[in-house]
Amino acid sequence: MSAVAADWIPDDVDRLKASPSRVYDYLLGGGCNFSVDREWAEQAIRRMPWIRAAARSNRTFLRRAVAFCAGAGVRQFLDLGSGIPTAQSVHEIARRIDPESRVVYVDNERVAVSHSELLLADIKGTGIIEADLCDVDYVLEHDTTRSLLDFDQPVALIITAALYYVADPDLAVNTVKRYLAALAPGSYLVLSHATLGRHEQDAMKLSHVLEMTKSLTTSATARSPEWILGLFDGLDIVEPGLVYTSNWRPEGPQSVDESPWQAAVLAAVGRKTP
Ligand SMILES: C[S@@+](CC[C@H](N)C(=O)[O-])C[C@H]1O[C@@H](n2cnc3c(N)ncnc32)[C@H](O)[C@@H]1O
Repeated sequence: MSAVAADWIPDDVDRLKASPSRVYDYLLGGGCNFSVDREWAEQAIRRMPWIRAAARSNRTFLRRAVAFCAGAGVRQFLDLGSGIPTAQSVHEIARRIDPESRVVYVDNERVAVSHSELLLADIKGTGIIEADLCDVDYVLEHDTTRSLLDFDQPVALIITAALYYVADPDLAVNTVKRYLAALAPGSYLVLSHATLGRHEQDAMKLSHVLEMTKSLTTSATARSPEWILGLFDGLDIVEPGLVYTSNWRPEGPQSVDESPWQAAVLAAVGRKTP
């Protein structure tokens, strides 16, 4: 590995344990991962062959939802569990609509943070905080947040494919509530979350992969559509509501088949009203 390529690897990172951000990076075709992550991902692909499509579908939902929020006038983004930066990150999408858009990324994994630091170093109006997303006060009071985001103006709060790493359901719900309470009217919640879907056989395969996540640095949990919808209590959910990621305002013709990856991750966008 070249010296340049190694810049994103912090000294203290455990290379023997696979991690959510690096496995996801591998599934998306990125290069910020170790052999332990690739082996874990390949095993997961064998158990659930559509996991890569599910990851891509989640990522494209995120891009469409950010473009939607930017199109609705939002110029500030707080991305919790942002992951290892990949092509078309939140600031790139938002800045197509307004180059002055500001973005704060938050992640608790060293590799995701160090890679983001490298990428964002020269990009004004963006920042990365190393934090547990449940540490709401720390994130909201952080100098980076305070210097980049104005909480009197709307903010898009993004939590895609990240809340399912918070094992305690009450903590997850309260965390979302506390962030939303800090946001001005006109703000948005952009959220996606793993769910078991309707088909027993596919659900079993996803359950096996979720069981496998116990060997990652953080394990994941699927939750019911009702539970996920509850996170939007008090918000106006924008059309088409809570749907599988690939069905949220697709750019091409609306998909009519029920491919398994559509049934792995639910997504919605909600608006905070006065
Ligand atoms: C599957 S990736 C999703 C990345 C990105 N949000 C997306 O949708 O493309 C999940 C990310 O959430 C991060 N994460 C998991 N639990 C977290 C926590 N408690 N606090 C902050 N980040 C967390 C992981 O480190 C990882 O980078």
